[in-house]
Amino acid sequence: MDFRERIVKTETLSKDIHLIRIRSERITDSAVPGQFVNVRCSGGLDAYLRRPISICRVCPSDKTFDIAYMKRGKGTILLCDFREGDMIDVTGPLGSGFTMPQTREKIAVVGGGIGIFPLLYLIDSCNDVEKTVFLGFRSKDAVVLKDDFEHSSNSLVIATDDGTFGIKGFVTEPFFNWLQSNRPDRVYTCGPLPMIKRIAEYCIERDIFCEVSMEQRMGCGIGACLVCACKVKEGSDFSYARVCSDGPVFRAEKLVLE
Ligand SMILES: Cc1cc2nc3c(=O)[nH]c(=O)nc-3n(C[C@H](O)[C@H](O)[C@H](O)COP(=O)(O)OP(=O)(O)OC[C@H]3O[C@@H](n4cnc5c(N)ncnc54)[C@H](O)[C@@H]3O)c2cc1C
Ligand code: FES
Repeated sequence: MDFRERIVKTETLSKDIHLIRIRSERITDSAVPGQFVNVRCSGGLDAYLRRPISICRVCPSDKTFDIAYMKRGKGTILLCDFREGDMIDVTGPLGSGFTMPQTREKIAVVGGGIGIFPLLYLIDSCNDVEKTVFLGFRSKDAVVLKDDFEHSSNSLVIATDDGTFGIKGFVTEPFFNWLQSNRPDRVYTCGPLPMIKRIAEYCIERDIFCEVSMEQRMGCGIGACLVCACKVKEGSDFSYARVCSDGPVFRAEKLVLE
């Protein structure tokens, strides 16, 4: 099967973060928030170089979706070579999505670094829901998609590790402060392990519904290789789930976060 689709836009969002907009009826017609695509990063012989990237936004009217990615290693460096008009090989949509909130529920969304991208698609897709968003970045230079998150939420709080933008420190602090006087119906989070671990523990202790999107290293992306295994609770014991096919979204109480 041919998975190649046309790139309609590329954009540099910050020094290391880039966006690609792809036209694909196959993906826009079936994707749900929380899912990802597996992108072949090179048009050459490097066929093994598929990388999982979350769907960040879908525009059903023009059949396009966006991915935003951080330039880190071989795969994402190659992705930066793609230009508007090029064809790109994307399989998906893959994995499980978030449980969508119900009308008039109050949700809190907490994202850190590259973990913010699937959360934009989530809040974009929730109508008639009260949405409070907390985003954490390293510094002002790393802040991206601020206007988009602002537009799609009722309230947006940004924290940077060095205090060069928004609140100084980890994003968990303003989130936990907010929880002193608010009780959301649902919490959704994606980002670095220490961040999601603290949020998951906090929500489990207080019996707040919490879903976590895991960004594990992957191989095949379709449940065949077990490279993406993560520990999950199984009664008083544990077993392994595949992030690519059983996830990437899991209920917080299901995960063993170490
Ligand atoms: C379900 C899912 C959704 C994702 N969504 C996004 C997204 O929307 N935007 C985005 O920028 N990235 C996302 N990632 C992470 C992305 O897949 C990796 O950053 C990418 O595979 C790195 O490939 P590379 O060849 O550039 O780097 P590599 O050369 O493979 O590695 C470079 C560095 O990145 C680290 N790294 C590699 N893979 C991961 C990973 N999965 N998570 C964390 N660190 C990793 C390595 O340890 C190494 O330090 C997602 C991952 C998963 C599993
Ligand atoms: S990446 Fe191969 S099983 Fe998940």
